Amino acid sequence: MMGHEKNELPSYSAAVAAPDRRRRWSVRRSRGLRLFALACLAFIVYAQWQQISPHPMRGSPPSSQLSIDKLEENLRLCSKLQSKPKDPIGAGRERNVRYIDGHKPTLIKNATVWVGEPVEGTSDEDARAGKGYTWINADVYLEHGLIKKVGKGIDTSSLASDYLVYEAKGRPLTTGIIDMHSHAGLDSLPSLVGNDDVNEMSSDITPYVRSIDGIQPNDHQIQVIKSGGVTTSLILPGSGNNIGGEAYVIKHAVGKADGRNETSATDMLAAPDSSWRYMKMACGENAKRTYGKVGEHGPVSRLGESWRFRHAFEQAAKLLTSQDDWCTAAESIGAQHMHSYLPQELKWESLSAVLRGQVHVNTHCYTIPDLEAFVDHTNEFKFPVRAFHHAHQTYLVPELLKRAWGDSPPAAALFADNMWYKAEAYVGSEYAGKQLYEDGLTPIYVSDNPVLNAQHVVYEAAKAYGYGLPYHAALASVTTAPAERLGLGQRLGKVKPGYDADVVVWDSDPLSIGAAPVQVWIDGTAQYENPFELNKPITAPIEAAPPAPATADEPIPARNVIFTGVSRSFVSNGLKEDDYRSENLTVAIFEGKITCIGTCAEELSIASKSGAEIISLQNGYVTKPFTAFGSLVGLNAIDAESDTDNGAALDVFSRGVDGLAFDTKKLHYAYKYGVTRAISAPKYSWQMTHQGTSVGFHTGARNGLEYGSVFADDVAVHYTLDLNAKSGSASISNAIGSLRRKLLEAVDAKASTAPGKYAEQYSEAAFLAKVVDGTLPLAITVHSADVIASLLKVKDVVDRAITESGRSSEGIRLTIVGGAESFLAAHELAAADVGVILIPLLSYRSSWDQRRALTGAPLTNGTAIDQLIEAGVRVAIGIEEDWLVRDMGLLAGITYTNAGGALSEEEALDLVGDNVFEALGYKVEEDGDEEEDRNVSRFVVFEGSPLQVGSRVRAVADGTGDLNLFEYA
Ligand SMILES: *[C@@H]1O[C@H](CO)[C@@H](O)[C@H](O)[C@H]1NC(C)=O
Ligand SMILES: *[C@@H]1O[C@H](CO)[C@@H](O)[C@H](O)[C@H]1NC(C)=O
Ligand SMILES: *[C@@H]1O[C@H](CO)[C@@H](O)[C@H](O)[C@H]1NC(C)=O
Repeated sequence: MMGHEKNELPSYSAAVAAPDRRRRWSVRRSRGLRLFALACLAFIVYAQWQQISPHPMRGSPPSSQLSIDKLEENLRLCSKLQSKPKDPIGAGRERNVRYIDGHKPTLIKNATVWVGEPVEGTSDEDARAGKGYTWINADVYLEHGLIKKVGKGIDTSSLASDYLVYEAKGRPLTTGIIDMHSHAGLDSLPSLVGNDDVNEMSSDITPYVRSIDGIQPNDHQIQVIKSGGVTTSLILPGSGNNIGGEAYVIKHAVGKADGRNETSATDMLAAPDSSWRYMKMACGENAKRTYGKVGEHGPVSRLGESWRFRHAFEQAAKLLTSQDDWCTAAESIGAQHMHSYLPQELKWESLSAVLRGQVHVNTHCYTIPDLEAFVDHTNEFKFPVRAFHHAHQTYLVPELLKRAWGDSPPAAALFADNMWYKAEAYVGSEYAGKQLYEDGLTPIYVSDNPVLNAQHVVYEAAKAYGYGLPYHAALASVTTAPAERLGLGQRLGKVKPGYDADVVVWDSDPLSIGAAPVQVWIDGTAQYENPFELNKPITAPIEAAPPAPATADEPIPARNVIFTGVSRSFVSNGLKEDDYRSENLTVAIFEGKITCIGTCAEELSIASKSGAEIISLQNGYVTKPFTAFGSLVGLNAIDAESDTDNGAALDVFSRGVDGLAFDTKKLHYAYKYGVTRAISAPKYSWQMTHQGTSVGFHTGARNGLEYGSVFADDVAVHYTLDLNAKSGSASISNAIGSLRRKLLEAVDAKASTAPGKYAEQYSEAAFLAKVVDGTLPLAITVHSADVIASLLKVKDVVDRAITESGRSSEGIRLTIVGGAESFLAAHELAAADVGVILIPLLSYRSSWDQRRALTGAPLTNGTAIDQLIEAGVRVAIGIEEDWLVRDMGLLAGITYTNAGGALSEEEALDLVGDNVFEALGYKVEEDGDEEEDRNVSRFVVFEGSPLQVGSRVRAVADGTGDLNLFEYA
């Protein structure tokens, strides 16, 4: 079926070719096999006897019953076997092979274009330093699936007569984004068991399987990904196996609606005329976890994994040698004189092609031992690796990478800051990309969709830029760098004549927060008829200024500090409005408290006497600290390591405060990134599921006995009604019924029976009594609009019972946690005064109960949060995974930027701060003296806007009286 996408190479179809009708004699299959075996044996005996002279059989007649046609076909295969693919040409093509007749040319006028390479004449050294790269104002002409012209004021008299015109109005235009690590189509969303085709788990070593055999063109996520400007993806098998199988590069245009011939994976292949092949391998934790069974089968350790790799390569090398020997002999004596057919074995065909240099190997390896072992394999078996993926520790071992076999060291395919989820992901750095680049290596940012939503892979590059990777290298990390590593660098990744016409016009600089495409072209065909366009001003690309240096990991305690150069302060201090609104404020801090915001002339003048350090900031921001809600920070250190985890309990109601564990890496980073408070509840079955009471605590505390470490023992009562609810109660209806019964039982319980016995004070019933009294909120993890509807009915029933029972409570305080589909009930939630804490902020329909989520422009008009805010729902943003503690300002930034002016910066920042409390039905006092006093000792000082990438936290005061400075490293 798929012979042609790699028609230069021997493939599956070649190996099992149907019997040729022109065969001179035909043999039945079983007899043929026996004859084949006999022939092999005969050849070995004969060869031994002949001692293999250079021309042992010249002139001798065929001595076995072999098909001459087949032997000749085998010989023709030899040259293909031994050919080395080249990168397919870009320039010089009249048309793109993917071009479908009838599509009109397009002239994109007045765009601000990122070409993807420096101006001509730039030295390599200057280019590496980013010199010569610039945004240019230009028109771009697309025809026959290619970029034909790029330039200012293209002369239209030279163009075809029927071209379409698109006015870019000065907006940024880049090439289509490339995601070099995706499982889209193999792991279709929403996840369903029947659609899961990521890992072929029948064996650890499966080089013989192919991702294309499982790609579902109708996976809606392929469209969602494109809506983020991603036009090309490498679709890799999963990482459960040491050798996972062959991978394929696709473009995200599917079927007639997207301007294609038909809805098929073949039609999606990015370069059907290229002979490069791709393969996924993986080392480390996954294979031993998946396969290792002591005493039965391995690998049980990294030692075993290495042996399996080497054994597999040994088999492939044997096949390769036997083929080359056959080919040498056949070339010299003539195929018709051979006494055996060309040795072929489908099982090792693709891996022998790896050893022939025809396959771009992409290997998932996190740790130094994994990288080291794999580099060793490349040298033992002489094959190159194009990129190490999930390569968190590569930044620690640049020299090791440079020791890999081949012409160029492997690239490192990374996430910007997603880590800590398992032991091999525990060591990593958000500065890895910057470090790798400085060491002469290539960082590439990828999604591992659906691990991250590939729609936002460019956001990974944006964060990498924020963490110090130069601007041009950050854009390259999702365009030219993956194009080059895929062997498609002459076709993809640049906006130049001769390149494929995959083009994105953005609503803002692609490396700015919240950037979304306003139109996407694939092979010159516009993908959207009526794209939703967010209401954003047309802005110039962000200045490619060198990003700020990294800050030290460990803070330095301080008492008296004066910051100058503060543009915005969201910590009020009763100052005069006009002072407060200045763009150049000074903020004086004495004894850990803000004493002045404004000109602070007096504080400045006595600074040397008072011993205050003066720190001048560029575009400083003073904000309230962030509050992390819904994650497991404080309850574990490494998600997948049970020893570090509080554990999950389906049948138990427990309190987060009883499982709190301080002084973890997660908490240090939370603090360092301005998240001074967290509210975490015990896990029900899995991340993002909760049961029990959440605890509110300070991330900077060293232990639970320290004064003020816990600010609220029990913040809310949590239950889970997402799909995981079925793991405990067997059905959703059962889970809802059980919750209703528990709440009504709490109403039934006589007021006077408020827990009297000591042991009962912390029981589930005691906490539910507080819920029906309205003193503790009820926080339900739920996504489905249907379950939310059921929940609103439960609330209604319970609230009536409360009223009838004569209690003084006004009813239960209900909060939806998760809420992917909550926008569908936005008005009902507002009417019932139910809060919503969105987790994740941007759902991408990953599970069935989120399947109606809004994925954003250009596919949908905004996302859930826009509709909830508009309906007047009390809304906040939580975090679904703990690594997001670094990104809470950015989550607010995405919302701010994409809200079309509906939110101020301060209101956006409150979404990850005060609003968490408000969404839970707690009152946050703004004007009281006490609150003001707390504000002045609870703040974060940023250099740069926390709503944009690239800001740095310079000082944190968490209200406990300590002030901590983070100096530039
Ligand atoms: C599209 O289909 C037409 C007619 O079936 C065929 O001639 C053409 O080669 C196809 N084009 C591509 C790019 O597949
Ligand atoms: C290009 O777009 C900018 C921004 O919208 C506009 O000011 C300018 O007039 C446009 N130039 C042309 C030649 O249309
Ligand atoms: C900002 O204010 C500080 C302190 O008043 C002053 O030294 C500095 O020159 C000002 N900077 C600008 C750009 O106005």
